[in-house]
Amino acid sequence: MKIIITENYDEMSIKAARMVSSQITLKNNSVLGLATGSTPEGMYRELINMYNNKEISFNDIITFNLDEYYNLEKDNTESYDYFMRKNLFNHIDINKKNIHIPNGMTEDIDYECINYDNMIKSKGGIDMQILGIGGNGHIGFNEPNINFEATTHLVNLTEDTIEANSRFFDSIEEVPTKAISMGVKTIMNSRKIILLANGKGKAEAIYNAVKGKITPTHPASVLQLHNDVTLILDKEAAALL
Ligand code: PGA
Repeated sequence: MKIIITENYDEMSIKAARMVSSQITLKNNSVLGLATGSTPEGMYRELINMYNNKEISFNDIITFNLDEYYNLEKDNTESYDYFMRKNLFNHIDINKKNIHIPNGMTEDIDYECINYDNMIKSKGGIDMQILGIGGNGHIGFNEPNINFEATTHLVNLTEDTIEANSRFFDSIEEVPTKAISMGVKTIMNSRKIILLANGKGKAEAIYNAVKGKITPTHPASVLQLHNDVTLILDKEAAALL
């Protein structure tokens, strides 16, 4: 694991955006795995700036998002589909047909999940996967005690995650309790992985991911087994390393 420790959130975001833009420069039709949440918002802002300055184009880029809430309409302002449009896709030249986000409104979960992994394979696999990390060590929505062999699947969110995500909803009752998420195996098949974390609330999860035992109890610890992972952390998230 390569670990980059930055002074603050903005520096973390700029470093991450530069890694993504280098990937795009190296391969203009890269397959990017994208994440939602508060952590990558600054990175997306930087990527939009780079696009506006004509440093990069997303015209041939293909994207696969990590996860989506189950049974939440795409146009709900808390869906990850909405998040991605608002924070990135509406501001860049990506071809809409190249955007993939699990369909949380599917009537056939098994088909949706198998098809999602098959689509990733058919595009040649993910070149660079961006990850955040949950305070409980989840990656995507792979919650503690996940099966490391899982591919894309329907997950039951833990109480920790529901509570953490309730900050975006009017009440905790409105937070979906299930999501469709790429599995650990899907994530581990990516050629490169960049994990971002900021704030002291992530310090313990980062410690467990980097120095802890590799165990499904701390899903992010599996990343120790991947040969091209970069963690970009602010000082607070790195405080226990
Ligand atoms: P956050 O979520 O970026 O909103 O902290 C990260 C995650 O839960 O994976």
